[in-house]
Amino acid sequence: MPLHKAFGVDLGSSAVKIYSQHQDTIIAEKNMIAIRNQDQILAVGNDAYEIFEKNPSNVSVISPVLGGKIADINHTEMVLKALLEKTDAQALLGYSLYLAIPSDLSEIDRRAYYTIGNSNRKNKIYMVDKTIADAVALGIPILHTKGTMIVNMGAQSTEISVIEQGRVVVSKMLDIGGKQLNEGIANEVRRRYNLHIGNRTARRLKFSLAYLGEDIMEARKIVGVDSLSGLPREEIVPSDVIHETILAPVRKICEEIQFFLERIPPQIRHNIEDQGIFVAGGTSRIPDMEWFLKQETGQKIRLSDYFEFCTVCGLKEIMGNRTLRKWVR
Ligand SMILES: Nc1ncnc2c1ncn2[C@@H]1O[C@H](COP(=O)(O)OP(=O)(O)OP(=O)(O)O)[C@@H](O)[C@H]1O
Ligand SMILES: [Mg+2]
Repeated sequence: MPLHKAFGVDLGSSAVKIYSQHQDTIIAEKNMIAIRNQDQILAVGNDAYEIFEKNPSNVSVISPVLGGKIADINHTEMVLKALLEKTDAQALLGYSLYLAIPSDLSEIDRRAYYTIGNSNRKNKIYMVDKTIADAVALGIPILHTKGTMIVNMGAQSTEISVIEQGRVVVSKMLDIGGKQLNEGIANEVRRRYNLHIGNRTARRLKFSLAYLGEDIMEARKIVGVDSLSGLPREEIVPSDVIHETILAPVRKICEEIQFFLERIPPQIRHNIEDQGIFVAGGTSRIPDMEWFLKQETGQKIRLSDYFEFCTVCGLKEIMGNRTLRKWVR
């Protein structure tokens, strides 16, 4: 057994991404835990998601990270411990955890990250600003940039941050992400077709039908519960319904980006306008996102090829490169 192991961890609202340095692998699992009778762990990660929305009344399926922040320290610790065990975290002298933490956090929210993983005194916990990890993965010269904007569009949050000469000068978390798009889709299906669908079905509609540019002219059959009769019923949902539903929240993100650009000092803004805006996160996978953001903001958009893995890929680079360690606290 090795003496010491190191892991990079991005605790997302939807998925936990873990980089294992000794195995040089990245895993992603749903950030969920299923608990029976309030104290018995039934399943963690993807296994817990399998039970989600199908759980009996004595089983609760909990997402311990909400809106991009730790909402429940105990359950986050349980998820993390179980997932680390899956990645073979046993080491004689404990392990080092490099945790990515959002830039826009209050001191109280920040403390939750310090508490995580500290239950075992042998472990060492390091903090890396999420924006900095994203910037490393995006290849941005953090110390020298005169203004770089990074937008991370996740599952329950979109974080807009600006870096200038080695510091995150401003950062804001919006409560818009993939989950809010799913909820919008479920609400729209209920309004148009009098049909109740769950988060899973809404998510499937988003994955198969969402687009932001040219109409993909497709449709999907779904099964839901009729609002009046309470009986199961089928419906065909076309792609343009999904398109119209997701437009408003994505436009809101664009407005916030512009609001940011208008309020930062001109020399920083010029540099951002020169370079383009860097975009990462799972929600940026929606087809034509790059085109749409460019249309709405009038700025060049540079989409990360890593999407939702951008932050954890940044952690991987930071952990493996001594000169990048200055970004670790
Ligand atoms: N192809 C796709 N089309 C649309 N949405 C997608 C696609 N792939 C992933 N997503 C969405 O991306 C989100 C997950 O992204 P990500 O892993 O960056 O979020 P997170 O880090 O868990 O959340 P947060 O950063 O808000 O805490 C989910 O809402 C998922 O539905
Ligand atoms: Mg994230």
